[in-house]
Amino acid sequence: MTGSAPAPFDSIRDYVRALESRGRLLRVESMDQDRYELTAFAYRLVDRYGKESAPAFLVEKLKIGGEWRDGPVLANLYGSWPDEALLFGVPDINDDQHGMYRAVIEQLTARLDDAGMWQRIPPVTVEPADAPCKEVRLTGDDIDIERFAFLQSNPADAGRYINMGAVFVSDPEFGSNVGTYRCQIKGPRKIGVNPEPGQHGWLLLNEMKRRGDKVAKVAVAVAPDPLTFCASSTKMAGYKEDELEFVGGLRGSPLKVVRCETCDIHVPANSEFVIEGEIPLDEFETEGPYGEMYGFQGPEKKDNFFMHIKAVTHRRNPWVLNSFTGLTWDMPKAPQVSSNLFMYKRLIPNLTGLYSPAGANGVIVISIQKRFPGQGVSAGQYVAANPALNKVVIVVDDDVDIMDPGAVLKALGARWQPAASVMVPQTQMMMPDPSRQTPMLSSKIVIDATRQLPQEGGPAWWPATNRELLEQGAKDAFALVDENWETYLERWKESDK
Ligand SMILES: Cc1cc2nc3c(=O)[nH]c(=O)nc-3n(C[C@H](O)[C@H](O)[C@H](O)COP(=O)(O)O)c2cc1C
Repeated sequence: MTGSAPAPFDSIRDYVRALESRGRLLRVESMDQDRYELTAFAYRLVDRYGKESAPAFLVEKLKIGGEWRDGPVLANLYGSWPDEALLFGVPDINDDQHGMYRAVIEQLTARLDDAGMWQRIPPVTVEPADAPCKEVRLTGDDIDIERFAFLQSNPADAGRYINMGAVFVSDPEFGSNVGTYRCQIKGPRKIGVNPEPGQHGWLLLNEMKRRGDKVAKVAVAVAPDPLTFCASSTKMAGYKEDELEFVGGLRGSPLKVVRCETCDIHVPANSEFVIEGEIPLDEFETEGPYGEMYGFQGPEKKDNFFMHIKAVTHRRNPWVLNSFTGLTWDMPKAPQVSSNLFMYKRLIPNLTGLYSPAGANGVIVISIQKRFPGQGVSAGQYVAANPALNKVVIVVDDDVDIMDPGAVLKALGARWQPAASVMVPQTQMMMPDPSRQTPMLSSKIVIDATRQLPQEGGPAWWPATNRELLEQGAKDAFALVDENWETYLERWKESDK
């Protein structure tokens, strides 16, 4: 496919078109989800290509509940760093994961102001006639959310889910929020809504409840443009700050929004679906169980919010996005990584890099230029203090490639003394790690795999690495090999014939 529009992408369709023109979209005509074909396919893609190289995929028709339904359903849209580089408009995209990671993070970090804040541009309201999400409007008994191609991803899940919806809550007194919270389908006009305790959406709904409100008006935008989904899935905005202003800032132009049919919430005009409704604030229902992000099944939840659907609007032939939770990569990560890097660089001036290995929730690797004893542990403790994902913090020297798991493990094997690890007991940890004993709390560990100095109990001196000795003793060896590289490969290819 050719002729795709460049970033910023106004809709998920524009982004997917660009992915496809890079050969990063795999199309399948039909799959039988009654036999969990999509789920097994997602596992196989990751098994065969690895988490960072598995492509996005699109399935046109799906068997769900004994019926063939029109999709498409799409998944794994943000799987690799070249995909994110494409999304954020990095020039000269290639398939080098490490290079593209550095390029997209560098480009976004340069857009933060001196205080580490993103630019903000307020959204602009368009008329319903100009909003693709209003192409079809359903109210009353015409609404049947079950007839769309939302999936049950795992036979052990409680049911089918809308698991990539951006949930909008807005209140004239308390402000607005959008967060990605999964929604269990509970009937043709009823869905669960699952902000975890402490999430901004949860805080806002609870403030409304404390004020005495009986219901909260809510809108779930399914498959909005990718940058709105990014803001909805990350903590780019503080509590009560309008995420859509940050989306405008990331785009460099205002996001187009449109007023909902049944309330004053404004949603991205290019969303595939908008599901509007009311959450009762003094009634709760069970939700789940559900296969969670750590790759384990979470428990059934007793007192979850749910929503009565009052209107559904959608594009013609609407697209469904599905998260195979804990498996596929479902959100753009670069803005959050850039903000974190900026913030940590202020706290840790000798920090040179930060990377969360794909799929290893809870593990983060940072690199530093170490000059003084204690710097590795100090740096690791700052990162471990983050209440989000950082349970295991591995600190390495600047000469270790933090994106290469082999290089990081090699540093553990060769530079780390386990007895010198620092345990951090019982700190705040929001994420549902199944190994924790108490929700919201976790112990953490800082593994200082930098070369230990004598004051830290390390050897009196560290020998040079073999590679350093090669570079010192044979100064032009690498230049020689680089010069002849194509010739070596040609001979190899010829011998293959
Ligand atoms: C595909 C996907 C599904 C998610 N599901 C949930 C969920 O069910 N509950 C939840 O609290 N957070 C979930 N998250 C994480 C939140 O979206 C994220 O923490 C976000 O910052 C929440 O928005 P808020 O900061 O406005 O509360 C999900 C993220 C993604 C990408």
